[in-house]
Amino acid sequence: MDHSPAKFVLLLMAAAATWSSVFPVADARSAHAVAAGCIPRERDALLAFKHGVNDTEDDLVSWHEGNQDCCRWEGVTCDNATGHVVELDLGWWTSFLVGQISPSLLSPEHLESLDLAYTGLCDHAHRLPELLGSFKNLRHVDLSDTLCHGEAPPQLGNLSKLEYLDLSVPAITQERDLKDISWLTRLPLLSYLDLSCLDLSSVVDWPLVVSMIPSLEYLDLSNCSLPSAARSLPHLYTTNLKYLDLSRNYFGHPVASCWFWNITSLEYLHLSNTNLHGPLPDALGNMTSLQWLDLSNMGNRTTMTVELGNLCDLGTLRLDRSLSSGNITEFLEKLPKCWSNRLQELTLKSNNMFGKLMNSMGQLNNLTMLDLSHNNITGTIPIGIDKCSYLWHYDLSYNHLIGAIPSWLGNCTRLWYLSLSNNLLTGHIPHGFASCAALLTLDISDNHLSGAIPPGLGNCTNLGQLYLSSNHLTGHVPSKIGMLGHLFDLDLSNNNLDGMITEEHLLGLKNLEHMDLSHNSFSGPLPSHFGSRLLVELSLSYNYFSGPIPKYICQLEFLLVLELSYNSLEGELPRCSHESSLVYLLLSNNNFSGKFPSSARNYSRLAFLDLSRNNFYGTLPSWIVELVNLKYLQLSHNLLHGDIPSTVTNLYCLRHLNLAKNIISGVIPCSLSKLTAMTQANSTKHGTHKSCRSNNYGVMKNEVLLVVMKRQELKYGIIGFFDVLSIDLSLDNLVGRIPEELTSLNGLLNLNLSWNHLSGQIPAEIGAMKSIESLDLSRNNLYDDIPASLSNLTYLSSLDLSYNNFTGRIPLGNQLDTIYSENPSIYAGNIGLCGPPLERNCSGNNGLEHVNQQKSEKVYELLLSFYFGLGSGFVAGLWVVFCTLLFNKTWRVSYFRLFDKLYDNAYVFVVVIWRMINFKETTS
Ligand SMILES: *[C@@H]1O[C@H](CO)[C@@H](O)[C@H](O)[C@H]1NC(C)=O
Ligand SMILES: *[C@@H]1O[C@H](CO)[C@@H](O)[C@H](O)[C@H]1NC(C)=O
Ligand SMILES: *[C@@H]1O[C@H](CO)[C@@H](O)[C@H](O)[C@H]1NC(C)=O
Ligand SMILES: *[C@@H]1O[C@H](CO)[C@@H](O)[C@H](O)[C@H]1NC(C)=O
Ligand SMILES: *[C@@H]1O[C@H](CO)[C@@H](O)[C@H](O)[C@H]1NC(C)=O
Ligand SMILES: *[C@@H]1O[C@H](CO)[C@@H](O)[C@H](O)[C@H]1NC(C)=O
Ligand SMILES: *[C@@H]1O[C@H](CO)[C@@H](O)[C@H](O)[C@H]1NC(C)=O
Repeated sequence: MDHSPAKFVLLLMAAAATWSSVFPVADARSAHAVAAGCIPRERDALLAFKHGVNDTEDDLVSWHEGNQDCCRWEGVTCDNATGHVVELDLGWWTSFLVGQISPSLLSPEHLESLDLAYTGLCDHAHRLPELLGSFKNLRHVDLSDTLCHGEAPPQLGNLSKLEYLDLSVPAITQERDLKDISWLTRLPLLSYLDLSCLDLSSVVDWPLVVSMIPSLEYLDLSNCSLPSAARSLPHLYTTNLKYLDLSRNYFGHPVASCWFWNITSLEYLHLSNTNLHGPLPDALGNMTSLQWLDLSNMGNRTTMTVELGNLCDLGTLRLDRSLSSGNITEFLEKLPKCWSNRLQELTLKSNNMFGKLMNSMGQLNNLTMLDLSHNNITGTIPIGIDKCSYLWHYDLSYNHLIGAIPSWLGNCTRLWYLSLSNNLLTGHIPHGFASCAALLTLDISDNHLSGAIPPGLGNCTNLGQLYLSSNHLTGHVPSKIGMLGHLFDLDLSNNNLDGMITEEHLLGLKNLEHMDLSHNSFSGPLPSHFGSRLLVELSLSYNYFSGPIPKYICQLEFLLVLELSYNSLEGELPRCSHESSLVYLLLSNNNFSGKFPSSARNYSRLAFLDLSRNNFYGTLPSWIVELVNLKYLQLSHNLLHGDIPSTVTNLYCLRHLNLAKNIISGVIPCSLSKLTAMTQANSTKHGTHKSCRSNNYGVMKNEVLLVVMKRQELKYGIIGFFDVLSIDLSLDNLVGRIPEELTSLNGLLNLNLSWNHLSGQIPAEIGAMKSIESLDLSRNNLYDDIPASLSNLTYLSSLDLSYNNFTGRIPLGNQLDTIYSENPSIYAGNIGLCGPPLERNCSGNNGLEHVNQQKSEKVYELLLSFYFGLGSGFVAGLWVVFCTLLFNKTWRVSYFRLFDKLYDNAYVFVVVIWRMINFKETTS
């Protein structure tokens, strides 16, 4: 895109050069055609040349002695009259030729054009051959993208007839530098010069040199590490310059001090990525020949005060990320107002512009592309560009526009790309998208649009991307959407859409790759067929879908993301017989049941598995180790029982392990140090084991990964997730000790082992877990001293050691003091803890406290049944009562009255007891 005008001009000029070199010859001399073909001496020279070339692809197959007329060899052109070789073209048509150019090449005086572009044809020292300087007749030299080292030979300055010189190198290399370009001033006829991507950083006086090449029309010095363009010149010899490309040089000085603003012949001026700043000079308003002006990516530090009213030929104006700010109303007033408005492309992305769009924009009726995105523009979208028949790209996204989407946009027959996303637009989506057959992308997401999705969108038959997410759309999805056979990206998430999604909606969408319907109110069963086999992402979470997952899922061989969380889906997962490509399988908060799904064994690429808050039962299979790519294993709030299989510790990519609130028993496996992704050395994205990295994270755009830590539920997307390393085994039936090996997981941020039956001591080396921010070991049977190294955990901000049997002095540390002052209950319910911050003296008698302790434990258990009414006995009991009540109206009324009362009493009771305990603690 960026280069197309450059390429175009290049082509034009190349064509012009060929024209001028061919025609005089043809006119004057074609009458005396040379029957004998080429001159033997030159043929021998060419053959000698071929001898030095490694022609692995046989490009020069026509070059052989049997083929006498060397003028017919490919790449060779002779003068029809004299028979001399005048053009040698081994450029882009050949595969990459490598070899040496020997001094024997040709009789120098006749060659006019030499094209060695994209070859490795150099001299014996792998440099650009100096002998080029002796071809006195050369007019056209193309040495672009050659693999030769070293500087361009200054001997090129001897080619006094040179018109075209291209020494550019590929953008990625920039190995060749040029310390002296003064020889260019000896080329009076030079009109085309391309030095792009050469390193000219030491050529301080380049503006003076190029301004002294009188015939120069085309100059490309992009990406040359040029030192500065600030120069005021005594005299300009270049009065014909039409094309100037200085982009991708870091100038960093005021834009007005550049040397070229007086060159009124300029038609193309390319200054993007040059870090120029300050006001654009008034002289710009006098550059009446300008057709193409690119000032984008200057770093938001320029300002526009110039009247551009006289630039009647201006077709393209690019200012993306260039202006520091500005009033869009005033800016548009400065644009050319000539009788024929040629302005076709206007891009002003990310310029902090404010103000309103005027209806006078309608004058810009030849616009093809308008991008005003990422500004602070207010007001409404203006009434039509009178004839929007040329418009193909219209982007007003990321502004503060209000009002409705104007219906004229539906009449722009060539519109390909329409984005109005991230504004404050209201009203309905216009029904009249009648002429939208050309539309490929429609993005009106993140607005306040309401009403239904108009069935007319089904007429936009070429639509590939449809984004209606984050609005207030209501109603059913029209089945006509199902006619969009080219659609590959469909996002309707975060609306209030309802109804069912049926086969009728989907069967026609044969090319669908991404479908996000999450955060709506869709209901009913999932369709048994999705139409497209190409689905990569299927996100249906946060709806009311019910019933089982259709077997069709098994046929989606490219599916990476299956997100069905927060629905009412049930049954077992379909058993797919073959390997699955799934990377994300997120099924939390449904009614799925069955044993831990055995079909997951085929999901060898699975990295994110969330089955939490369902009714999965049975044991955790030891084959889980086969899911070697697992990074996120979230199985909490199910009915899983049995031991934690020790193979879990072989999951060396695992960063998040949550088995909380199951019936898991047994001991914590001790080979935890094998979870190397949880160590500091490996926890950064780059430090991660190579096979743990994957290119497929990008597809996941929603924040769907839940981590419970610091007493809150935090949601992460893929990016944030990588920093949150966590193990949560709380609310299970684990016994035994906390393995010492755990302390080797020094990348872990969250460790929760609360509500188990763990005994023994806290590992003495706990201080080695340097990254820990949240540590919860409460409600276990841990005993003995709290290790002093706990105070080494400098990032710790949440700690709970309550209700264990710890004794001895509490370790001191700044962060521990802060945590305690925020939450004084972190040591509560331990028999023998003493010393500050507690008021209990360490030398004192512990007998009384022991009694208090037992008392408080009782109260505590009572409290529990109020806080966590989840205990199965409690729920079952409640259910019996409730069912009875359902059938007996009078009981029902009196029961709820009673319950109200009970609740009040219970509350009072708890508060009183709680005060009592606190009182006793403070007095003891
Ligand atoms: C030479 O003659 C051939 C055919 O006679 C013609 O196609 C070609 O354009 C001529 N070339 C030049 C350089 O005049
Ligand atoms: C020619 O090129 C081939 C393939 O790049 C290489 O293997 C071979 O060594 C080259 N020969 C010479 C003489 O450079
Ligand atoms: C360029 O224009 C400025 C005024 O804009 C003038 O002072 C300067 O002399 C001009 N330079 C040349 C070389 O014409
Ligand atoms: C623009 O051109 C006009 C007329 O030639 C001249 O008077 C004026 O000084 C020029 N402005 C600048 C800034 O060069
Ligand atoms: C330019 O401004 C835009 C819009 O405020 C901003 O997003 C962008 O980061 C800025 N660019 C620079 C290089 O400051
Ligand atoms: C509008 O642009 C087209 C090219 O797309 C051009 O041919 C035509 O002359 C322009 N119209 C006006 C009024 O400048
Ligand atoms: C922008 O400029 C217009 C015209 O000069 C003016 O009416 C408007 O108040 C300006 N807007 C802001 C926000 O300054």
